[in-house]
Amino acid sequence: MILVAGATGNVGGELLRQLRAEGAPVRALTRDPARAGLPADVEVAEGDFATPESLAKAFSGVESLFLMMSGNETAVVEEAARAGVRRIVLLSSVAVETRPDSLIGRVHGEAERAVEKSGLAWTFLRPGQFASNTRGWAAQIAQGDVVRTPFGQVGLPAVHPGDIAAVARTALTRDGHDGAVYALSGPAPVTPVEQVAAIGAAIGRELRHEESTPEEAAADMAAFMPAEIVAATLEFLGSPTATETRVLPTVEQVTGRPARTFAEWARDNADGFR
Ligand SMILES: NC(=O)c1ccc[n+]([C@@H]2O[C@H](COP(=O)([O-])OP(=O)(O)OC[C@H]3O[C@@H](n4cnc5c(N)ncnc54)[C@H](OP(=O)(O)O)[C@@H]3O)[C@@H](O)[C@H]2O)c1
Repeated sequence: MILVAGATGNVGGELLRQLRAEGAPVRALTRDPARAGLPADVEVAEGDFATPESLAKAFSGVESLFLMMSGNETAVVEEAARAGVRRIVLLSSVAVETRPDSLIGRVHGEAERAVEKSGLAWTFLRPGQFASNTRGWAAQIAQGDVVRTPFGQVGLPAVHPGDIAAVARTALTRDGHDGAVYALSGPAPVTPVEQVAAIGAAIGRELRHEESTPEEAAADMAAFMPAEIVAATLEFLGSPTATETRVLPTVEQVTGRPARTFAEWARDNADGFR
């Protein structure tokens, strides 16, 4: 049995679909099954990383676990090991490599170390920017044809969450990935200006990018993110390191299929912007 944490999210949701499509035995974890909106025939388990004892039932009979960073990994992983889990694929971040001292690098690094110490088999996925972060523009697109963001000309190789999921699925279901650290990117750098145009093309509208200041963006983000994460995110978006802008062959090397472009992500997710 494979347990997918974050099954209602971008990566876990894709992973759940892919594992079901190949007929793998799979269970979805959520804090609230009633609100999860998962298909009726999915095996769903309730549990919360904040209270690891709540995960005992979800972990029961599980051999392989797809795990996300929670800030409580040591206790979560102990609970998993107690329940007999043998392998963990952890969704981490490129920031562990590129910005180990930033908040984002630190929390993901701590998660990796907790999993390493568990004695279980592990694989770490270290993606950079997700294509799905642009979902945050949906409210602006609902109101008009202009999307305002800072750093409109800064390109990052945004990765399709379905490709992260495909790497996770491979590591969860095939041998040969234990101890691997996979840095993941999309197939080409894409700027916010280009992302806005691609979403417009996907929904059949002429959308336009307008430059906002980092201060304006920080004020908007402060509504749903702690200040230290806002600062780290804006630093990453505005001044990426050479390592953060590199295009990596990992998705294709691991899955046998090329990484999908941002335009493909926009087409796959057009309904979220209509
Ligand atoms: N966005 C990026 O650019 C980026 C880049 C690198 C790495 N990452 C990593 O990717 C992660 C986000 O992945 P995503 O976009 O797929 O997630 P997401 O769409 O933001 O969804 C979050 C998921 O986490 C689950 N969750 C949240 N708190 C939980 C808790 N206390 N106990 C159990 N489950 C909990 C939620 O499930 P329920 O609500 O159903 O319980 C939901 O399925 C980040 O945390 C980060 O570690 C992101």
